Amino acid sequence: MAAANQGTGLQAIVMAGGKGTRLKSNLPKVLHPLLGKTLLARVLETLNPLFPQAVYVVVGHGREQVNAELQSLSLNFETTPVTQEPQLGTGHAVQQVKKAADQKISGSVLILSGDVPLLKTETLNAITKTHTSKKHDITLLAAELENPYGHGRVITKSNKVLRIVEEKDASLDEKAIKLGNTGLYCINWQSVSPLLDKLQANNAQKEFYLTDLIGLAVEAGLTVGTHLLNDHNEVIGINSRQDLARCTAALNERVLERLMTDGVTIIDPRNTLIAPEVSVGSDTVIHPGCYLTGNVTIGKRCQIGPQTVMQTSGQNKVSIGDDSSVLCSYVRDSSVGAHSFVGPYAQLRDNAQIADHVKIGNFVEVKNSTIDEQSFASHLAYVGDAKIGKDVNLGAGTITANFNALTGEKHQTIIEDHAKTGSNSVLVAPITIGHHAFVAAGSVVTKDVAPYALAVTRPKQTEIIDWVKKQLKP
Ligand code: UD1
Ligand code: MG
Repeated sequence: MAAANQGTGLQAIVMAGGKGTRLKSNLPKVLHPLLGKTLLARVLETLNPLFPQAVYVVVGHGREQVNAELQSLSLNFETTPVTQEPQLGTGHAVQQVKKAADQKISGSVLILSGDVPLLKTETLNAITKTHTSKKHDITLLAAELENPYGHGRVITKSNKVLRIVEEKDASLDEKAIKLGNTGLYCINWQSVSPLLDKLQANNAQKEFYLTDLIGLAVEAGLTVGTHLLNDHNEVIGINSRQDLARCTAALNERVLERLMTDGVTIIDPRNTLIAPEVSVGSDTVIHPGCYLTGNVTIGKRCQIGPQTVMQTSGQNKVSIGDDSSVLCSYVRDSSVGAHSFVGPYAQLRDNAQIADHVKIGNFVEVKNSTIDEQSFASHLAYVGDAKIGKDVNLGAGTITANFNALTGEKHQTIIEDHAKTGSNSVLVAPITIGHHAFVAAGSVVTKDVAPYALAVTRPKQTEIIDWVKKQLKP
């Protein structure tokens, strides 16, 4: 499907310059996260399967941050940021694209709002199809909304679109109209873009509304039509924190429905959040209180949760092999093999690589380390910058002292196959514990330990017979 669309020359404009005043945030609106990805990323990713030829992103408020986000995304297409300064409305946003690239644009152009993140690629395809087949100059995506509050209302007469009126400019009668504008348009650039110069800001918000193009196009005798959408959740626009919460719930529901259809048990969908990027194998059970976002792959027949968080940053991944359990734990940018057990209350972060048949128990933290097959760190341990072999047992409270707080340097600990550490061992890195070696409980080990050796660094036990009796008063 995606490949079939390759090279169709689709052009798109994404409006992402607004401040998002109603969110009352220092963060630009389109950079607010929705299940682990920014609104802007979610909107742009719906264009991915269409392999667009050109995508202009209008950036204004907080544009340095927005530009940085654009650079960090890995998409199937290039984005061209177009600066809008100051931000005088959605019409003004598209005017800036006209100024910057008029000569380069032609034919059908999709205009998307950077704050409407749940629209599906199918819908983008559908509106484009309607636009082309009905030979419209403008097609707008409209939806019959139970509660259209905040949306522009589509004014029609005898089923013909006349204009759009914004909530703040609408009369009481107009507010009663349920047909809402969703902020997605397909326009014919040659016939419609000249009308951008005619927009005026004589309205309640003193802004240049893109929606006024509709009325202008009708007056100019152009063909304007709608494509109707039935899924109300797809068109949620984010203007407030409440919208953000609603949108999160809608996206989450979409993901959980798909996973359950694919054979994943979600014990309590109202208490489970999973991002669309997460893949979960069949017969895996997701227990309540899980929050899984990012490039996460979970195998088959796993038990995840309750109360487990998985996250990724940048291009990093989380993967959990088949038949593994992760209970009440935090996993970031790390992997766990098959038949392994993590938790409760463990933290795996920053490239912890846990092999098959490993146990990482309660209050164990593993950072930037590999732990090979059949090894155990069952209780209260810190494993940082370490390479742990096969069949190693780390006793309760084993600590790899990897950080020199004076120099700020981190050092590696190597523990070879079949080695064991007793409870409360401190291994001061850089250090190697040879294979089959044994570190006695309570030892602070600062030098390498030879294979098969016992390292003991604690003082010998002494006893003073009847010492307590002597302290007691007669
Ligand atoms: C807009 C529509 C409304 C529609 C709703 C759907 C207008 C005038 N109204 O209203 O009919 O029902 O979307 O969600 O278009 N933006 C800029 N530059 C600006 C202003 C906004 O790039 O100067 C961007 C915003 O970042 C946002 C998008 O345009 O991504 C929409 O702007 P917003 O202010 O949210 O418009 P709404 O009031 O939601
Ligand atoms: Mg909006």
